[in-house]
Amino acid sequence: MAAQTLPPGPQAARNIIQILQLMRNFQRDLLGFTGGNFARYGGIWKIEAGKETQYMIAEPDLIQEILVKQSDKFNKSSDYKNTDKGLARFLGNGLVTSDGDFWKRQRKLVAPAFHTKRIEAYAQTMVDATQAMLDRWQGQTKLDIDDEMMRGTLQIVVKTLFNVDISADAKRIGDAMSALQELVGNNSMVEAFLPLWVPTPQRARSKKAVRDLDEIVYRLITEWRKVGKDNGDLLSMLLLARDDDGNGMNDKQVRDEAVTLFLAGHDTTANTLNWTWYLLAQNPDIEAKLHDEIDTVLGGNLPTLADLRRLPYSEMVIKESMRLFPPAYFFGRVTIDDVQLGDFFAPKGTGIGVSSYSVHRDPRFWDEPEAFRPERFSPENAENIRKYAYIPFGGGPRVCIGNSFAMMEAELMLVMIAQRYQMRLSPGQVVEPNPLLTMKPKGGLPMRIEERKVSRPQSVSSQKLEAV
Ligand code: HEM
Repeated sequence: MAAQTLPPGPQAARNIIQILQLMRNFQRDLLGFTGGNFARYGGIWKIEAGKETQYMIAEPDLIQEILVKQSDKFNKSSDYKNTDKGLARFLGNGLVTSDGDFWKRQRKLVAPAFHTKRIEAYAQTMVDATQAMLDRWQGQTKLDIDDEMMRGTLQIVVKTLFNVDISADAKRIGDAMSALQELVGNNSMVEAFLPLWVPTPQRARSKKAVRDLDEIVYRLITEWRKVGKDNGDLLSMLLLARDDDGNGMNDKQVRDEAVTLFLAGHDTTANTLNWTWYLLAQNPDIEAKLHDEIDTVLGGNLPTLADLRRLPYSEMVIKESMRLFPPAYFFGRVTIDDVQLGDFFAPKGTGIGVSSYSVHRDPRFWDEPEAFRPERFSPENAENIRKYAYIPFGGGPRVCIGNSFAMMEAELMLVMIAQRYQMRLSPGQVVEPNPLLTMKPKGGLPMRIEERKVSRPQSVSSQKLEAV
């Protein structure tokens, strides 16, 4: 075994004042603080606070070790699994928060719901929801694009997850999800240090959101079990899934997986689109090329799933947007064994933070990394991208299960919206990333929307979806 060399890093925070200062640095400017340390120490550095040690990683070879080669030596970060303060208080023991044999069984059970054939059937739902959104926009000139993208992707996830007619519940689901989103990953210092028995407005909102969501999801599960047949939705797939011994999931487990897919499945895609609109508004030449492709291929018609293959530039735009602003900008793990990571030793219990944001902007792997250049993802250029320097969906056994679903959704929404509108920022408008659980634009994304002067697709099925 190599010598047990530890990575470099800033001075350890040992007393409470130093720990508070460190937390403040993280909270004030997480991306700047971590980016500065990557520039100073390289692709692996450590941070020590009290008894906790965390290694921060943005080095492709080490990312491959963590996500793929030695993935069995890592669990999901214990922060996620904290049922009092972490993600697990909302998600329970679903795919995002579970580990080990339990996670393996669940992954196998959930995977069929995301097989290509199955998710292809969702393309029409995505087109319908986007069309409903565009109809809502008629006559508008200014919108909070962040709100709109969230609403659109929420509508899609509600419909694909629970195909049944739950429009009466849709608003409650939407409200509960928004409350969860606001809370998850947004713990203030006060929240972090206040004992759990102290009631705060944030804790009250979070409890109500979980109660509302549970009430609806359990009811849908009970209703489904009475009939017991495939409705074409993701919930049916969860309820029909059987392991090698012929056993299915109990209600609690189905609930945890459904809420996990719900939370993981729309905020991420909405933010991909948010950043895409922001980048297109700043790069009119790229926007013009995108419009050209859309107008030539679709000729004013609504897109179908088959059209996506003929819209390669649109896909490149999405991929490049996720490079600059990866919605999942940071993945947390903890070592469950002693691990050698390249030259460095990570004892059992070390926290690990993989920064997709930093590796996606590292000048060693990306020429002019700050520039928005979809051509990086053209077929001839994409093969030269360094392995594990581009990880918007993670990698290895825990790679995003909704990867293809998300790409299909983002592309369909992008082409339908860009076919009809272009978004503009106000002069001098500053848009900053807000790295919460996912990377959002801080304070929303108010933009002007301008109708394009091209032949317009017919509104066909916007009535099919009730507004969320
Ligand atoms: C652009 C949109 C999306 C992005 C950028 C994204 C990104 C990611 C990433 C990076 C991971 C791995 C995290 C880690 O290794 O710790 C992940 C996992 C996951 N994603 Fe996504 N995701 C997106 C959309 C979706 C959708 C649409 C769904 C479901 C409908 C989904 C469901 C999940 C689940 C369940 C996991 C956990 C998988 C496991 O650990 O087995 N995601 N996602």
